[in-house]
Amino acid sequence: MTNLAKTVLVLGATGNTGFPLVKQLLTRGYSVRVVVRSLDKFSQELLKNPKLKVMNENLLDLNHEQLRQTVKDCGNIVSCLGHTMSLRGIFGEPRALVLEAVKRICIAIKDTNIKVKKKFLLMNTVGNRNPGENVTTSEKFVLYLLRCLVPPHYDNEAAAAYLRDEISSENDFIEWVVIRPDSLINDEISPYEVVSFPPRTIFNGLKSTRSNVAHFMCECIENPSTWHRWKGKMPVVFDK
Ligand SMILES: NC(=O)c1ccc[n+]([C@@H]2O[C@H](COP(=O)([O-])OP(=O)(O)OC[C@H]3O[C@@H](n4cnc5c(N)ncnc54)[C@H](OP(=O)(O)O)[C@@H]3O)[C@@H](O)[C@H]2O)c1
Repeated sequence: MTNLAKTVLVLGATGNTGFPLVKQLLTRGYSVRVVVRSLDKFSQELLKNPKLKVMNENLLDLNHEQLRQTVKDCGNIVSCLGHTMSLRGIFGEPRALVLEAVKRICIAIKDTNIKVKKKFLLMNTVGNRNPGENVTTSEKFVLYLLRCLVPPHYDNEAAAAYLRDEISSENDFIEWVVIRPDSLINDEISPYEVVSFPPRTIFNGLKSTRSNVAHFMCECIENPSTWHRWKGKMPVVFDK
């Protein structure tokens, strides 16, 4: 693998999924870059790891040139960003955290002018249904309410739509996978399944362990057949 392919930029690296992802990637021998608002989660031992490069900045405060320099040497970008689950996090600014970050990173990737396609993995939600997927009338109603009333839900949908519709599969710079976990829980890695469509309604969902989501992200980055299987798609990941 080239240096580019062995380098991963993780956004949301202090989060409940981002942090285990950073640790799994380092264990697999990847060079990892993170942009974090706080260093609290990172032990001194981790900070001394020569494979980890930490930028202690607020992601959306970085200008275009800083983002361009950050993504230039990374062959893989993973967003585990999510709104903080507080009133301020849900209803305050930045309302379009994930969309804004995804758009700005994609524009920065294009402006590197490096025509080796970078892998972009976006953590999303099973509550985001694709056109053509089976959705009952009551689900449609609840998803409509969520879209109108809960900004993070709209943000997740808009960020995935940007990759699916704007970046699409006709792009010289970026290939993407949008990963849709179900109800997230914290636990150790365990057997999990990856499927193309949500197997259940939003009312009787399944559990998705965050370490399993991180494991699947690592597999997408490391395993060419996994990437080939899921690129340009929105797989659903849940525990067996
Ligand atoms: N909860 C569920 O059951 C569920 C199910 C499916 C999908 N999801 C989606 O999965 C994603 C990740 O979930 P998670 O539980 O791993 O997230 P999480 O633990 O809440 O982590 C969120 C990450 O985003 C960062 N962040 C939040 N606001 C930010 C801002 N304004 N600027 C920069 N960074 C910011 C946080 O950084 P700080 O540490 O600095 O705050 C943290 O690193 C979310 O998009 C969520 O909607 C959730």
